[in-house]
Amino acid sequence: MAKAPTSRIDKLLSSMGYGSRMEIARLAKVGGITLDGVEMTDASQRIAVTPDLPARMQIDGSALDPVQGMVILLHKPLGMTCSHKDGGPLVYDLLPARWRRRDPAISTIGRLDKQTTGLLLMTDDGALLHRVISPKRHVTKTYRAHLARPLSGGEAALFASGTMMLEGEDKPLAPAKLQVISPTEALLQVTEGRYHQVRRMFAATGNHVEALHRERLGGLHVPGDLAPGQWKLLGADDIALIFKETPAV
Ligand code: URA
Repeated sequence: MAKAPTSRIDKLLSSMGYGSRMEIARLAKVGGITLDGVEMTDASQRIAVTPDLPARMQIDGSALDPVQGMVILLHKPLGMTCSHKDGGPLVYDLLPARWRRRDPAISTIGRLDKQTTGLLLMTDDGALLHRVISPKRHVTKTYRAHLARPLSGGEAALFASGTMMLEGEDKPLAPAKLQVISPTEALLQVTEGRYHQVRRMFAATGNHVEALHRERLGGLHVPGDLAPGQWKLLGADDIALIFKETPAV
């Protein structure tokens, strides 16, 4: 088995947002860092960075955060943005403050509009991020749209055609599946992540999306007990669900 990488305690904890190396050295000196119940008073000491470290290391009496490969499922609320460019409060503000200081940084996996709610993943794992957003993977995104006007009846065939063009674009949209729930509510499954894609698809049919919620990414869904603004850390089984077939709508 490959040997676990090692790191100085101060370097590791500082990259995880716990403070500057100097602050960590001070905390270690006063007994604020323990490993297997033993006080680590010298922060320059090297330790093996193993996946079980959070179960063995305590910082100020609390379990260490996950070290690497953190995957967060956020129930994105209305009015928060995924990008600094959009203005307004950021989805990152919902995470613990020290997570915003981590290196590698935590980023959103794809984006949702300010006025879209639902399943948003965030990670510090660049390889996973690229696997999820890669067009080759065809990860299905399922959206629930509430519409301003009743559906006309032709939308499902148009969206499924593989020939639908969005304004200003030169490549047709990949086929998308529509399930009509009521005259003004529908589920839409898309495999691409074009800019404002779902809103633009309905706009192209003369309709207007009044509310948009992402329910699923692949086989992963927003847990029923996760309120808007709340998040949870995902384990390997949940992460595998992203790449599983989505139940068809
Ligand atoms: N399509 C949109 O129009 N908006 C989103 O936030 C996601 C998909």
